Amino acid sequence: MNILFAASEAVPLAKTGGLADVAGALPKALNKLGSDVRVILPKYEQIPDVFSSKFERIAEFTVSFGWRNQYCGLLKAEIDGTVYYLIDNEFYFKRGGLYGYGDDPERFVFFCFAVAECAQYMGFRPDIVHCHDWQTGLIPFLLKTRYAYDPLWRSVKSVFTIHNLQYQGLFGIDLMKEFTGAGDECFTADSLEFNGAASCMKGGLVYGDKLTTVSASYAREIQSPYYGEQLDGLLRYRSGDLTGIVNGIDENSFDPMNDGSLHTPYRNSLPRKRRNKLDLQAEFGLPQSQQIPVIGIVSRLVEQKGFDLIAAILNDLLQEEIQLIVLGAGDRKYEEMFQRAAREFPHKAAIWLGYSDRIARRIYAGSDMFAMPSKFEPCGLSQLIALRYRTVPIVRETGGLKDTVQPYNAFTGEGTGFTFANYNAHEFLDGVRRALAVYEKEEEWKQIVSNGAKQDYSWTSSAKAYLKLYSDMIPHRKETEPCPVIL
Ligand code: ADP
Ligand code: GLC
Repeated sequence: MNILFAASEAVPLAKTGGLADVAGALPKALNKLGSDVRVILPKYEQIPDVFSSKFERIAEFTVSFGWRNQYCGLLKAEIDGTVYYLIDNEFYFKRGGLYGYGDDPERFVFFCFAVAECAQYMGFRPDIVHCHDWQTGLIPFLLKTRYAYDPLWRSVKSVFTIHNLQYQGLFGIDLMKEFTGAGDECFTADSLEFNGAASCMKGGLVYGDKLTTVSASYAREIQSPYYGEQLDGLLRYRSGDLTGIVNGIDENSFDPMNDGSLHTPYRNSLPRKRRNKLDLQAEFGLPQSQQIPVIGIVSRLVEQKGFDLIAAILNDLLQEEIQLIVLGAGDRKYEEMFQRAAREFPHKAAIWLGYSDRIARRIYAGSDMFAMPSKFEPCGLSQLIALRYRTVPIVRETGGLKDTVQPYNAFTGEGTGFTFANYNAHEFLDGVRRALAVYEKEEEWKQIVSNGAKQDYSWTSSAKAYLKLYSDMIPHRKETEPCPVIL
């Protein structure tokens, strides 16, 4: 099966969050199972030279959308066994960051058109184009409208995966009309229109042949008004086509035994893990002590991740005998909240503002506990990485957190983390205190750490679920049949 992954980020090329982890690791896992999965993304300035230098320019063409005619380069390289394509246009993508620009809608509309146009130059005929989040939402729309009779696309199916329903790519209908050349019929409630605006997310949700999201719980939750971001009605309508498939992590990349960011590799030895704690404390300027429990956070600093709960109990939390180490960037109010805490409790709290893969890995390794009290969480990879690094998660029972962290039961000794149900600051604080109480009892703590270590966080079983979804969509072709050639 030939699958083209269209995404706005993918490791190892460009990353701001978990989408990149998925778009990097899932193709690898699917390719191991015998498919040919290739990934296409924009050519950002941030792509490290070691990778960008491997790319070869295979085509140059013009992408026409609305009245715009824009240059597009298509580059190709094989990295770590996976073929990547890059869409090159410096006006749109040669910028300091990946997102957050006033013309983001135009940048990603261009990307969607460019993906559709480059099919003729790729030397690869996908059976399925698998799109991820709003940035690629217009691809399923284009395949069902403008490209519906295009010989290269007419038999291609689309899968649209929701990684986060909150980010929808909304902008003015007039602008969207201008970009797409689509008529009024495409801006009704059963098409792209959303509360008087045009929605890229709806392009995927309405026109994708199949929809998936990244955990079974989130698939259920988004069909309810609380989590549905006003799209729950549409998602209930499409529930027959919607599946939840939980994310995994790349266990080779996230392996405390083979992680170049750590001085002391470890697997099941807590004493070796705790040497990483001493390194981490030194790096963050906190007193070094193996005993004191360290709670780590690595996150985008946004409301989704539960920082309002942390704000409400931060002072109480810092009265406990703990250290709190935070790596993140995002909303100013949360950055300032942690900076203030670090100033007021210099021996207990430290924050590193920004994005750093190296520091993130050192926090996963050096912490005893990992806090993620999310308001909603489609899947969450941080808690999986934490578990892989023998760090016990404290999470709210929502979305993928509920599906991947089993609550610790002191009577049976089962469970991998500490959980709480309601979006309530004192329930979170109670979860932390339960964790601290167990941490005091070394044998019990070892038990919970080893329970977590035994879980399978790899992509193996989820990749099989995706493969089944794909093959059910193209039932007439046998696995071994060659790709049809269109003349
Ligand atoms: P989300 O995609 O919503 O941000 P996930 O838990 O799915 O949340 O994935 C977050 C990914 O991004 C993890 O790999 C995490 O380690 C990484 N990450 C988040 N913030 C930072 C940061 N400031 N520096 C380095 N890595 C980060
Ligand atoms: C999104 C979600 C996160 C998920 C990630 C990868 O960013 O917020 O929960 O793990 O996508 O699917």
